[in-house]
Amino acid sequence: MSPLSVAALVGAFPVEFPAAIVYNSPVEKIRIQGRNDFQLKGGVRIGGSKNAVLPALAASLLTGEKVHLSNIPLVKDVFSMLKLMKELGLDYHLEGTNLTLEVPKILSEEASYNLVKVMRASFLVLGPLLARFGKAIVAQPGGCAIGLRPVDLHLAGLQRLGANITLEHGYIKAEADRLQGADIRFEKKTVGGTEHLIMAATLARGETILRNCAQEPEISNLCELLIKMGAKIEGVGEETVRIVGVDALGGADHEIIPDRIEAGTFLVAGALTHGDIRLTGTEPSHIMTTIEKLRYSGATIDIDGKTLHVVGSAEIRPQDVTTSPYPGFPTDMQAQFMVLMTQATGTSIITETIFDRRFQHVNELLRLGAAIEVLGDKAVVHGRTPLSGAEVIATDLRASASLILAGLIASGETIVNDVEHIDRGYERIEEKLRALGARIERFRD
Ligand code: UD1
Repeated sequence: MSPLSVAALVGAFPVEFPAAIVYNSPVEKIRIQGRNDFQLKGGVRIGGSKNAVLPALAASLLTGEKVHLSNIPLVKDVFSMLKLMKELGLDYHLEGTNLTLEVPKILSEEASYNLVKVMRASFLVLGPLLARFGKAIVAQPGGCAIGLRPVDLHLAGLQRLGANITLEHGYIKAEADRLQGADIRFEKKTVGGTEHLIMAATLARGETILRNCAQEPEISNLCELLIKMGAKIEGVGEETVRIVGVDALGGADHEIIPDRIEAGTFLVAGALTHGDIRLTGTEPSHIMTTIEKLRYSGATIDIDGKTLHVVGSAEIRPQDVTTSPYPGFPTDMQAQFMVLMTQATGTSIITETIFDRRFQHVNELLRLGAAIEVLGDKAVVHGRTPLSGAEVIATDLRASASLILAGLIASGETIVNDVEHIDRGYERIEEKLRALGARIERFRD
């Protein structure tokens, strides 16, 4: 089989892609030649945030004018979202990491299951389509590897904004002549739910007050884009956000924030390998909880503007970690941090409070020689266990990252199967690690 270019992933693609950016078929694997005393050294540039760009893409449906986004991460989820939005009527042009989007008119108000199932975040097109065109039909997202992920809070909120919502044959149909502002309290913090209702409320009649909002930086980045488009939003980054609806939104120029999870993953890589890595293009204020935890574990991390310098310590101290909404410890860093704790001198307890099935990497880490017990929402990690290479399978995006990290310090060869997960959220991870000295390659059987 020949490698599929990024262009092939999105169908007819308007620009040529650099040869280096090539994502291949799902049967690909990653091979790592690791060593227990392996050290990563050098510099790495962190890309734009996957979780910030996806809602920004959905937000472009709210206007007929051009939206220019910069610092786009060239990851698979972005291309999946572009493919879906193209069917809805999106014209786009991507040059390097700059993307111009325009939805002059709607071609279809229906987002099909085939496209929604590959990426939950695509569900976010529902609210913007509804708010601008009065109607949307979007496949209900299914379950996923990290647990039950309902969209009930999104739908209850849209109903409170006056949408008539029905579920037919696995599709959610939403209709409203014009959405109407409302006072809504989220029962629990939801990143996607907060983004969805903020976007929908920008074109509603009157004022919407959203309470108990999630406060992730990606939500603030979205609000900044919407404000540039003409939205009236107060309380950006706070638990209570007020939106006064306007009749129409316009175009904007906007920069996507750096990916705090990619940065956190490379910080863990530095700490884990007793390495010395300089990360450029980061936003340190977005990852202070991760930085603090890594510092407690023994790593030295210096912050200089947008650059982070991590130097790992020969002795890693055990740390208990509980995932929670921002600014708490991110669930998206849990798997990577667990790998670090397998090398700590003592026992750590990692508690996962956000998703109910997010310990699937544990079985694979056990195959590499880790000593971990899962008790309900807790993983008890007994350190320090030298790891030894094995064939493992990646079950979700962050689990894949954790297995690659483990492979770096596992003696001998580790093969990570199902690497398509990693391409959803990390841009050329094996190239970035290779530049830091890792012996890692992508291959097909
Ligand atoms: C986003 C991130 C994901 C991250 C997660 C938590 C994107 C594209 N993805 O996912 O990487 O792991 O935040 O930080 O930004 N819930 C409900 N009902 C709902 C919505 C959510 O019960 O209607 C629950 C979820 O099942 C989960 C919790 O709320 O237990 C938090 O989920 P949420 O914050 O919505 O996650 P996502 O936006 O899907």
